[in-house]
Amino acid sequence: MNWINLKKRAHTPYSKKPVVCVVEGDRGDFFPGVRIENVSFPLTISAVQAACSICLSYQQIPKRILYVDEAPSQLEYWKNEFDCTAELVSDISSFKLMDYRSPVPSTKKEVLVQLLSEAVIPNSDFPVSAIILNKQEDVCFTGVNIEVSDWAKGLCAERIALAKALASGINDFANISVHTLKGEFSSPCGACRQVLHEHLPLSKVELFHADATYSEHFIIDLLPFSFTSKNLGKL
Ligand code: THU
Repeated sequence: MNWINLKKRAHTPYSKKPVVCVVEGDRGDFFPGVRIENVSFPLTISAVQAACSICLSYQQIPKRILYVDEAPSQLEYWKNEFDCTAELVSDISSFKLMDYRSPVPSTKKEVLVQLLSEAVIPNSDFPVSAIILNKQEDVCFTGVNIEVSDWAKGLCAERIALAKALASGINDFANISVHTLKGEFSSPCGACRQVLHEHLPLSKVELFHADATYSEHFIIDLLPFSFTSKNLGKL
């Protein structure tokens, strides 16, 4: 992998400026992250936020942030949060990047339940897990919710799964499933509805509720009258 090919995976239809980075974790693995813009700009996930959060979802602490060109947004926050170093690196082709792909499970529920223990939830103690499946249904990506000192910079399980998929070059999806452990009926938060709507609006979200019930919904139905504008994406 090189920077040019990783940049092709960034979802930046609004700025037209792909931003990517790679984070080295404390066990020496390298986690790629790509910028994921949203039609509602404030919901954009920065490349560093994506890579650091994915690193944390693998139970590793970010130690080194590698970037190219100019410093990516949120660099200072994530550097300080984990006492990381940050380096401008012109070539990443010698680094073996983490493979985020998971095999498609025969029963999603079992995998989702196992995943719950990997959530990084110092603030909420409310674990959530997710699995996003590609359109061909031959590969999937798991996610758990990640919380950091700034509550607003944490990411939901759904968005971690999506961030891993996009950083892996997968952007066409069959569905996403979500499992919660506490509460009763749970469904994706407003921010996740907006972000999922951008990537798989006509697909279903499968919900495994904490009370052991199940429901499934079209994402488009979870976000009626959603924000959109023909004027965006033409900057
Ligand atoms: N959370 C998710 O992971 N997904 C959702 O759809 C709802 C909320 C997480 C975010 C945060 O870590 C915790 O639940 C409490 O908001």
